[in-house]
Amino acid sequence: MSKQSLINEINMRRTFAIISHPDAGKTTITEKVLLHGQKIQKAGTVKGKKSGQHAKSDWMEMEKERGISVTTSVMQFPYRDSLVNLLDTPGHEDFSEDTYRTLTAVDSCLMVIDAAKGVEERTIKLMDVTRLRDTPILTFVNKLDRDIRDPLELLDEVEDVLKIMCAPITWPIGQGKNFKGVYHIARDEIIFYKSGQGHRIQEVDIIKGIDNPELDKRIGGYADELRDEINLVKGASNEFDLELFLAGELTPVFFGTALGNFGVDHMLDGLVEWAPTPMGRNTDKEEFVDAANEKFSGFVFKIQANMDPRHRDRVAFMRIVSGKYEQGMKMKHVRLGKEVRIADALTFVAGDREHVDEAWPGDIIGLHNHGTIQIGDTFTWGDEFKFTGIPNFAPELFRRIRLKDPLKQKQLLKGLVQLSEEGAVQVFRPLASNDLIVGAVGMLQFDVVVHRLRAEYKVEAIYENIQVATARWVYCDDAKKFEEFQRKAQHNLSIDGGNALAYIAPTMANLSLTQERFPEITFTHTKEV
Ligand code: G4P
Repeated sequence: MSKQSLINEINMRRTFAIISHPDAGKTTITEKVLLHGQKIQKAGTVKGKKSGQHAKSDWMEMEKERGISVTTSVMQFPYRDSLVNLLDTPGHEDFSEDTYRTLTAVDSCLMVIDAAKGVEERTIKLMDVTRLRDTPILTFVNKLDRDIRDPLELLDEVEDVLKIMCAPITWPIGQGKNFKGVYHIARDEIIFYKSGQGHRIQEVDIIKGIDNPELDKRIGGYADELRDEINLVKGASNEFDLELFLAGELTPVFFGTALGNFGVDHMLDGLVEWAPTPMGRNTDKEEFVDAANEKFSGFVFKIQANMDPRHRDRVAFMRIVSGKYEQGMKMKHVRLGKEVRIADALTFVAGDREHVDEAWPGDIIGLHNHGTIQIGDTFTWGDEFKFTGIPNFAPELFRRIRLKDPLKQKQLLKGLVQLSEEGAVQVFRPLASNDLIVGAVGMLQFDVVVHRLRAEYKVEAIYENIQVATARWVYCDDAKKFEEFQRKAQHNLSIDGGNALAYIAPTMANLSLTQERFPEITFTHTKEV
C-alpha cells in the first residue's frame, strides 16, 4: 500500500450517523439515502415497520414482536465521487446507550427535525453527546409536505435550544399541499418538487436564478413573495462557514420531505462536499493517531450478540482509525497484549453480512468475538496505546436483579459482567451488600438482559424495584481524601462491571448533598470505557 493510495481512500470517505427523535423520519431518510446510493432498487425495503416485512438487521425475536429495531447496522454506499458509511442507530429510545457510543465512531451527524414539531427531547440528548467531540452536524428539516411550523421560527428554536448556529442552504417554497420545492441559496436555483415520486430518483426540475422570469411564469405572484422572503432569510440567518461547521458550531440546514424523496440528495451533496473525511483519534499516550498513519489501528465501539440466528455469535464492531485492513492480517489486541489474526472480518450492507477483503479509515468492520473483545478495546499494528473517548453513560433506571434458583449465583454474575462488557446493561455491586443492581438507559434493556441470561447463560432472573435515582463514577487525586470519602460514603458505593467505583444515589437531593459534603471528589456522568 502506498501512502498516496491510503490518502485517496481516506479522501473518498465520509462516515456519519443520523440523530433524531423517534418518528422524525430517520428510517425513511435512510431508505432514500440508500436509494440515492443505489444500494436498494426501490425505497421501502429497509424496514417495513407495520407490514411485518423486517429487514434482515432485525435480529432478535423481541424486535419482531415489538416492531422496533434495536441494532446498529452499517451501510456503505457510493455517492458522487465519495464512499459514504452510514451508521444506523437503534431507533427505539430505550437503546440510547448504544446510540451514544455509535456517535463516537462517526465523523459527522445528520440531525433530522420534524418540521411540525421542532426540537424534541431525544434530539437534545443526542446533541449533548455529539458535543463531547464537537462533531460537525448537518440538519434536515423533514415533512415539508405537511402543515409545518414557520421555518424561521424553527431555526430560531434550533439555535436557542441546541446552541448551534443555523445556515440555511435551501429554503422551502410553500408547505403542506402547497409545497413546491426549495430555493437552493448556495446555488441560486429553484428546484421543484413533484409529489408521488417517493420511491424513485426524481428527474430534477430546475430554474436557474431567483430573478429568472421563468419563475414568475411557473409560480405567478408567489415568485415576488419568495424573493422578498429570501431577502429576509438572508438578512436574518447565518451564512455557511466551513470552519464553524467543522468546529460543530454551525449547521447547514436543508429542507424537504423524506417520504416524497425530495431534498435528501441536497443534503447528501452537502455531506460529501463539506463533512470531514475520516478523522484520527486521541489516545491515552498523548499521541494523536492520524487517519493517514500507514500503521493499522482501530477501536471497538459496539458488541452485538446473535446478529444472525443462524450464526449465534457475537460481533464486535470496529471503527478503523488508521492504515488498511487486509484479510488475514495480524493485529495487536492491546488490552490482552496479544497478537490476533483476523481471517474473516465482516461488513454489513442493509442487514446483509459480507466478508471484507480490505477496509480503510472511516470504515466499520465486524470481528467475530468469542468473549475476548470488549467495548473500547483498541487494536493496533503492534503499538501499545488505547484510544480514548468511548464513554459509558450513567444509567437512569435501576433494578435489583435476583435469581429464581439461588444456586446459580456465579453464572448470573458471569452473565451480567459479560453483558456489561458488551454494553447491553451496566451492573453495580454495592460494597455494603450482596445485591446485584443493573442500570440501564432505557427500559427495554432490562427485558433484553433477562431474555439473554436465559438463552445464553441458562439462568432465570427476576427484577425487584430499588430506590436508586442515579449513579456517578467517583474519582479523586488525593488518596487520603478519597479513602475518607470511601469510608464515610460506604453505604452508597459500588463496583461496576469494569471494577470502577460508583456512587449510587437514592435520590437526586442525596447526590447534591454528597457532592457538597465532599467537594474534592469528582462525580462524573460519563466514564471512559
Ligand atoms: P423514525 O425512523 O425516525 O422513527 O421515523 P420513520 O422514518 O419511521 O418515520 C415516521 C413516520 O413519519 C412514518 O409514518 C413515515 O412514513 C412518516 N414520514 C417520514 N418522512 C415523512 C415526510 O417527509 N412526510 C410525511 N408526511 N411523513 C413522513 P408512519 O405512519 O408512522 O409509518 P408508515 O406506516 O408510513 O411506515
